[in-house]
Amino acid sequence: MLVLIKGGRVIDPGNLDGIMDILIKDGKISEIKEHGSKLKAQSSKLKVIDASGKIVTPGLIDMHVHLREPGHEYKETIESGCLSAAYGGFTAICPMPNTNPVNDNGQITEYILKKAGIADTVRVYPVAAISKGLNGKSLCEYGELKEAGAIALSDDGYPVRDSQLMRRAMEYAKGFSMPIISHCEDLNLAANGVVNEGAVATSMGLAGIPNAAESIMVMRDIALCELTESRLHIAHVSTKESVQAIRNAKKRGVKVTAETAPHYFTLTEDAIKGYNTNTKMNPPLRSSQDREAIWEGLADGTIDIIATDHAPHSYIEKEVEFDQAANGIIGLETSVSLSLKLVHDGVISLTGLIEKMSTNPARIIGIENGIKIGYSADITIIDPDLSYKIDSGKFQSLSRNTPFNGWDMKGKAVLTMVGGKIIFEEMVSANRKP
Ligand code: DOR
Ligand code: ZN
Repeated sequence: MLVLIKGGRVIDPGNLDGIMDILIKDGKISEIKEHGSKLKAQSSKLKVIDASGKIVTPGLIDMHVHLREPGHEYKETIESGCLSAAYGGFTAICPMPNTNPVNDNGQITEYILKKAGIADTVRVYPVAAISKGLNGKSLCEYGELKEAGAIALSDDGYPVRDSQLMRRAMEYAKGFSMPIISHCEDLNLAANGVVNEGAVATSMGLAGIPNAAESIMVMRDIALCELTESRLHIAHVSTKESVQAIRNAKKRGVKVTAETAPHYFTLTEDAIKGYNTNTKMNPPLRSSQDREAIWEGLADGTIDIIATDHAPHSYIEKEVEFDQAANGIIGLETSVSLSLKLVHDGVISLTGLIEKMSTNPARIIGIENGIKIGYSADITIIDPDLSYKIDSGKFQSLSRNTPFNGWDMKGKAVLTMVGGKIIFEEMVSANRKP
């Protein structure tokens, strides 16, 4: 089977940028040529994808998602989460371990991978727990987890409160060349807060969480990373102090990387006015100064990655009082459009965006990535100008908890290919505005 992706602007950061034709044979990239030049392989079975006017990139990777299987399949299954990823333009995702049971042993990791294999859509690279049952007390068996297929370790959803345990986790993970992904939150300082601390919280009668609840832990974990000379990745950065701490650490040569999520660079705490529980997440939406610092962090490379923290919840958990509602929003099917807005607004370049959604996550989790001859054909095609309205009713995700429903967007993923197989295609410009 031969597939030709023709006439798109191929951007593989640090490798390619130009109007090119890509030939895919048996799931792998077999030829890359300037658009219009003669390709060696010819066949009547050639499927041609016309990518003119579109961007062809290495497959996008979302390093931080929550699939709710095992345990909460009514919110998301591995199958529905993978399909949601495919429709959002992702070819690979990393599910967090806060399932029930927790992914804290090789059997659960294998179960997730088996289910992902049956779904047979996007690639799944599980993140396993730092501590057993996310209890923050005893470490999991990292060798067993790595052997089973886990690519990183995180107690995401909870911080590791005990600094000694975190130090040991970093040392242990280093022996297996696995990064620790840290959910940075000082639980005592966050206390019973549900939104960002400040005037908006006060006027709404809601308890606040100060920026320091995040940045204190970012600074602690950077100090521990420096001490142990291990690899640390900071999850869902939301504050200006965290950005500054990470920037300083990188300047000192600490091996720290960081991610933020589309909601932190798109929204501010103003979005919570009206008590829409789809604006409630942990960490919370912050001030406009914090959002600006996130933009700067994305632009100067302090923040390496855009990840969604896709956190599906059902109506049961969201249609309740604000302070009772579950934390988190879904993100897989809106991430590319919201991230492209950064490009349209001049915050980052298109190449910068692809780095943050493909090249950098691949490097951190240690997987092959790129438009190179011999590489697996994991490719995303993006139409940067396609205008459409977000309709959460059409999502593949089993959940609907997004604050972006009804938003008018410009640009979206229109084709997702994994190992040469098209798993999502919307090349027809059906809802393109005239
Ligand atoms: O908003 C969040 N939702 N933050 C987390 O840390 C966990 C996540 C979830 O699992 O729902
Ligand atoms: Zn998370």
